[in-house]
Amino acid sequence: MISKPKTLKDNSPKVYIKTFGCQMNKLDTELSVGSLSKKGYSFADNENDADVILLNTCSVRDKAEHKVYSQLGSLRDQKGKNPKLILGVLGCMAQNEGDKIFKRMPHVDLVCGTRMFSKLPELLEEISGSNKRILAIDEDGEVNFDRIVTQRQNRYNAFVSIMRGCDNYCSYCIVPYVRGREFSRAVTDIADEVKKLADDGCKEVTLLGQNVNSYGKGLAGKVTLATLLRTLDPIKGIERIHFLTSHPKDMNKEILEAIGELSGVCEYLHMPAQSGSDKILKKMRRQYTSAHYRELIEMAKSIVPGIKVASDFIVGFPGETEEDFEDTVGLLKEIRCQNSFIFKYSPRTGTSAIELVDDVIEETKKSRNHTLLELQKKISSEENRKVHGKSVEVLVEGESKTSAVRLIGRTRQNQIVAFDQPEGINQADVSSSMPGSLVSIKITDSTDLTLFGDYEGILPLRK
Ligand code: SAH
Ligand code: SF4
Ligand code: F3S
Repeated sequence: MISKPKTLKDNSPKVYIKTFGCQMNKLDTELSVGSLSKKGYSFADNENDADVILLNTCSVRDKAEHKVYSQLGSLRDQKGKNPKLILGVLGCMAQNEGDKIFKRMPHVDLVCGTRMFSKLPELLEEISGSNKRILAIDEDGEVNFDRIVTQRQNRYNAFVSIMRGCDNYCSYCIVPYVRGREFSRAVTDIADEVKKLADDGCKEVTLLGQNVNSYGKGLAGKVTLATLLRTLDPIKGIERIHFLTSHPKDMNKEILEAIGELSGVCEYLHMPAQSGSDKILKKMRRQYTSAHYRELIEMAKSIVPGIKVASDFIVGFPGETEEDFEDTVGLLKEIRCQNSFIFKYSPRTGTSAIELVDDVIEETKKSRNHTLLELQKKISSEENRKVHGKSVEVLVEGESKTSAVRLIGRTRQNQIVAFDQPEGINQADVSSSMPGSLVSIKITDSTDLTLFGDYEGILPLRK
C-alpha cells in the first residue's frame, strides 16, 4: 500500500489501492497515486476506511486472475453495506478481461486498463454520485510517466520506468496484449526523474522494462541501455543502479562492458532463461538457444567479475518431456543462479501457445516445479556459504520486521543481509542515521535467502 500523503485535506475522498503482479504494476500504482493526489484525493490505510477501493491487477497466470476475482467477491458485502463505495479494477486484468469483469462482478463500478491511469481522477468523478459503470480500456490512451517523487514506498530505493509494453510475443505470454507495443522513454526524462529522486534522498534506482536490453528502439540517435547507464551513472547521490528484465536475445557486450566499467551499476542480471531445452525454447519463441544463453553467462562472468544472475523458468510447457525438463535442470546446475522464479505453465487465451495442447498433467507440473525449487534452494545455500568470512558492501534499508535491534540491507548483487545494530550507538541514532548508509558487514552465517553478519563500519559514498 502507498501511505497517506501529508499535504491533503481530511474531508477528501479516501482511496485504497491494492497492487498485484510485478514491479511495473507497483510503479503504475505510484503513478495513479500521483494523478489522484494532484486532484485532491487522499489515501486510506486499509480498505474499511476507504471511499474508493482500486485493485491494480495482473493477468500473467490464471491464478493471478483468480486471486482478484476472489478478492472482488469478498468485497461484495462491503459494497452492499455502503452503496456509495466505488470499486474499481485497474491494470493488466482490466485490459484483458474488459467487460467480463462487470458481468461476473455486478458490484464493480470501474474497469480501467493499462493506458488509462492518468484519467483516473476524471473517471472516478464521473462515477461518484451517479450509478454509472465505466469501462476504460482504450489502447491508444496516453501513457503518462509523471510521478510525484516524494510519494513512494521506500525512502532509499525507487523503481524508474524506462520503457513500457513489449514487442516480443513469447508464445505463452499475455503481457504484449495487455501492455501494448514497446515504447522507450526519452533519456532526458529518465535522467530528470533520477535526479529528482536523488535530491529526495534516494540512493538506489532500479530501471524497469519488460526487456530493458532493447531500450532505445525508436528513439532518435544511438540510444541504448549502455548509453543510458553511462548517462545515469554520474548522477550525484545515486550509489547503485539496477535494471530488469534482460531478455537474452538482446544482451550484448556493450551492455556488459557498461556494467563492468561503471562504478554505480550493480553486478547483477535478471535474465530469464525460461527453459534449458532448445525444442521448448523454440516453441516458446524465445529466439535464442540454451548454448547462446550459456555463452552470454560466460561473457558476463569474464567482463564483470563477481556478477550474479537471476532467472525465471517455466515448467510444464506444452510438449515438455522428461528429457526437456532434465535439460532445464542441467542448465540451472551449470549456471548456478543466485535466485530463480519458477512457474508452472498457465495457458492464456489470446496468446499463440493456446493453440498447443496443454499436455503436461498438473501433477507433473507440480513435481517439476518442486524439483527445480529445491535445486535452486540448494544452489543458493551453497553459494551463500561461499561468502562466509568475507566483507560485503550493504546498503541499509531499515529495521528487520522481526527484531528492532536487527537491521536489513542488500548487497550490490541483491542478496539480503541481516545484522545486529552496532553496539554503543543508541536506538534513536541507529534508526535515524543508519538506513540509507553504505556499511561493511562481515558475513558469518546464512540461509538460502539471507546472509547474516557483523557490522564493521560505515563505507564512504561513491560520490
Ligand atoms: N518481460 C519479462 C517477463 C515478464 S512475465 C521477461 O521476458 O523476462 C514474468 C515471468 O512470468 C516470465 O519470465 C515467465 O517466466 C512467467 N510467465 C509468463 N507467462 C506465463 C505463463 N503463461 N505461464 C507461466 N509462467 C508465465
Ligand atoms: Fe512476455 Fe516475452 Fe515480453 Fe517478457 S519478453 S513480457 S516473457 S512476451
Ligand atoms: Fe506485470 Fe502481471 Fe501485467 S506480470 S505486466 S502485472 S500481467
